[in-house]
Amino acid sequence: MTLKKQSIVVAGGGSTFTPGIVMMLLENLDKFPIRSLKFYDNDKERQKQIADATEVIIKERAPEIEFKATTDPEEAFTDVDFVMAHIRVGKYAMREKDEKIPMKYGVIGQETCGPGGIAYGMRSIGGVVEIIDYMEKYSPDAWMLNYSNPAAIVAEATRRLRPDSKIINICDMPVGIELRMAEVLGLESRKEMDVRYYGLNHFGWWTDIRDKEGNDLMPKLIDWVKEHGYITPKELEGASEEEPSWEYTFGKAKEVQWLDPDTLPNTYLKYYFYPQDEAEHSDINYTRANEVMDNREKHVFSECNRISNIKTAEDAKLVADDHASYIVDLARAIAYNTKERMLLIVPNHGAIENFDAEGMVEVPCIVGSQGPEPMTQGSIPRFQKGLMEQQVAVEKLVVDAWITGSYQKLWQALTLSRIVPNARVAKQILDDLIEANEDFWPVLK
Ligand code: NAD
Ligand code: G6P
Ligand code: MN
Repeated sequence: MTLKKQSIVVAGGGSTFTPGIVMMLLENLDKFPIRSLKFYDNDKERQKQIADATEVIIKERAPEIEFKATTDPEEAFTDVDFVMAHIRVGKYAMREKDEKIPMKYGVIGQETCGPGGIAYGMRSIGGVVEIIDYMEKYSPDAWMLNYSNPAAIVAEATRRLRPDSKIINICDMPVGIELRMAEVLGLESRKEMDVRYYGLNHFGWWTDIRDKEGNDLMPKLIDWVKEHGYITPKELEGASEEEPSWEYTFGKAKEVQWLDPDTLPNTYLKYYFYPQDEAEHSDINYTRANEVMDNREKHVFSECNRISNIKTAEDAKLVADDHASYIVDLARAIAYNTKERMLLIVPNHGAIENFDAEGMVEVPCIVGSQGPEPMTQGSIPRFQKGLMEQQVAVEKLVVDAWITGSYQKLWQALTLSRIVPNARVAKQILDDLIEANEDFWPVLK
C-alpha cells in the first residue's frame, strides 16, 4: 500500500529539539512519507540557523521534500496536515527567571512544576492558542501535535478556550522512562510492553506492565526501581550519557517509588514529594536553564552553523532523538489509522472513574484517524487521588487567572501548589514573577 505523503509545519522551528526531530523524521520516511516540511518561528534569526543546516541535510538525504522556513503565519500554516508544536514563549532567558525567582524564597524553581511551571504556563497559553488559530484559519483539517510546555496547563487552557480544535498534547517523559524500563528488563523495544498508567502530565504512575503474552513485568521492575530508581544497569556500571541533573533525577526516582510500593512513578513527582531536597540540591547561580544553554543549545547551534558553513552534513553530529519517534507514531496513528496505544493528555471523561470528569489526565489511548480514545483505568487510591485533586486545581486556577486576568486566582494557584510553603511566600514569588513577566502575561487585577 502506498502511504499518502504528508505536509508538516514545525512550530518553534528555532527549538533546540528541531534538528533531532528532523533527523528522526528523515529516518522514518518509509513509515511516514513527507512531501513538504516547513518551519515556523517568531524569532527569524534563531530559526534561520537551524533552517540553513536543515536545508543542507534535506538536500543530501531527501531532496524530494520541499523545505521552507518562514515567520509568516499564512505561508507556514497553509496546506499542512500536521502542526508539530514545541514553542517556548520567552525562551531560555525567561526559563532562567522561572527557575531563579522562587529560589530567592527557598522554593524550588522548575520548568514545569510549582511556581516556575505556573509562570511558564501564563506565558505559553497565548502563544499556543495563536498557533491553533493560524492552523484553523489556513489548514482547517490539520491536527496539532503539541509538546510545548507546561503541557498540563496548556492542555487545560486549550480544552477551555478551543474545545473543538484538533489538538493533542503529548509528553516524552513516560517514553523516556519506558526506554529505561525496557533496558532493565533486557527487552529490545519498549513497544514489547503494554502499560496501564494514570495521572496528570508530569504527575503519574504505572500500575501494570506486561509483555505481549500477558506476563506481569511489574515485580522485576519494582525490585529494580526501589533500589536504583530509573538508573539503567549500564549506567550503574558507570556508562552514563546523561547530564548530571538528569542522572540525579533518575536516581531520585527510587525515593519517589517508596511512597507507593505497588506502582512505578513519573520522575517529576520528586518535586512534589521532596521539594526541600530539590531546593537544597540546586544552585541559584546555575540552574537547569544554565546547564541547557551551556550544553544542548550551544551544541545544536554550533553544529547547525558548522553544517551550513561547510555546506555538507555528511559528518553531522546531529542525531535523531529516539525519544522523538513517539511523534511519528502519533502522526502515523492519525494519518493512517494505525490504532496505536499511546499515553496522551486528554479530558478525563471517566477514564479515571473517581476523578474530575473535566480534568486533563494522562492515560493510555488508542489513536486512530478520529483522534484518541482513552482507555479506562478504573478507580484510583486515596493517596494519588488527593495529590491529583490538589494539582489539577492548581492547573485550573492558572487558566482561570489567565482568562479572567485575576491576581487572586493566581495567588490561590501558587498557594495550593504543594511546592510552595505558605500563602505569604506565594505572594512574594507572585509579585516578583509579575514584574519579570510584564511583556508576556495578561495584566492581572
Ligand atoms: P527553545 O527555546 O530552544 O525553542 C523554542 C522556540 O520557540 C524558539 O525558537 C522561540 O523563538 C520559539 N517561539 C517562542 N514563542 C513563539 C511563538 N509565540 N510563536 C512561534 N515560535 C515561538 O526551547 P526548547 O528547549 O527546544 O524547547 C521547546 C519546547 O518543547 C518547550 O516548550 C519545551 O518545554 C518543550 N518540550 C516538551 C517536551 C514534552 O515532553 N512535552 C519534551 C521536550 C521539550
Ligand atoms: C522531559 C520532559 C519535558 C521537558 C524536558 C526538559 O523530556 O518530558 O516536558 O521539557 O524533559 O528537558 P531539559 O533538558 O530542557 O531540561
Ligand atoms: Mn514532558
